[in-house]
Amino acid sequence: MKKVGLISIALPLTLICGGFSNDVKASQTESEKTDATKEEKKEDMERTLAIIKPDAADKADEINKMIEAAGLKVIAKKTTRLSLEKAKEFYEIHKDRPFYDSLCEFMSSGDVVIEVLEGPEAVSRYRTLMGATDARKAEEGTIRKAFGTDNQKNAVHGSDSLENAAKEISSFFSDEEIGG
Ligand code: CDP
Ligand code: MG
Repeated sequence: MKKVGLISIALPLTLICGGFSNDVKASQTESEKTDATKEEKKEDMERTLAIIKPDAADKADEINKMIEAAGLKVIAKKTTRLSLEKAKEFYEIHKDRPFYDSLCEFMSSGDVVIEVLEGPEAVSRYRTLMGATDARKAEEGTIRKAFGTDNQKNAVHGSDSLENAAKEISSFFSDEEIGG
């Protein structure tokens, strides 16, 4: 009778304790999982450089709404006019192309709005939102379709790789301006 009593106390106690320790284990695993998810998300976060070109600088508010709607955040922004020299430096990669001179003149012909965008896969996400280089061929719903004119006056620039994004961002913004 006494023995039965002991078992009837010890068994439920073991189950309770076992269950409790399993719960702790489970919750640790959950928090580890959450940390891992956070890490993954951090890795996916990118920054890219956007320039709203002289032909669309007055549409910056509408363009920024499209950018935010696409899940990207404008984390730094400045309105400025590029000197011809700065435009030439920026587009140096195209210096042997027939459109280089007229492109640089166009880019320095009026104010531009230069922005750092941040978000998951920001480089490719923003390129998709921009649309095709030739605005006449740009897809519905893209910035170039809405505000561009042709293959030069196409409203916006966007970095084409993560590596170029970092270079382009640092050529226009200091770390302090971006805020870490
Ligand atoms: O800007 P995106 O990366 O789409 O095109 P790109 O091939 O890197 O060309 C840079 C810029 O040069 C374009 O955005 C246009 O403004 C200009 N361009 C031009 O004036 N004439 C062309 N035939 C092609 C591009
Ligand atoms: Mg390009």
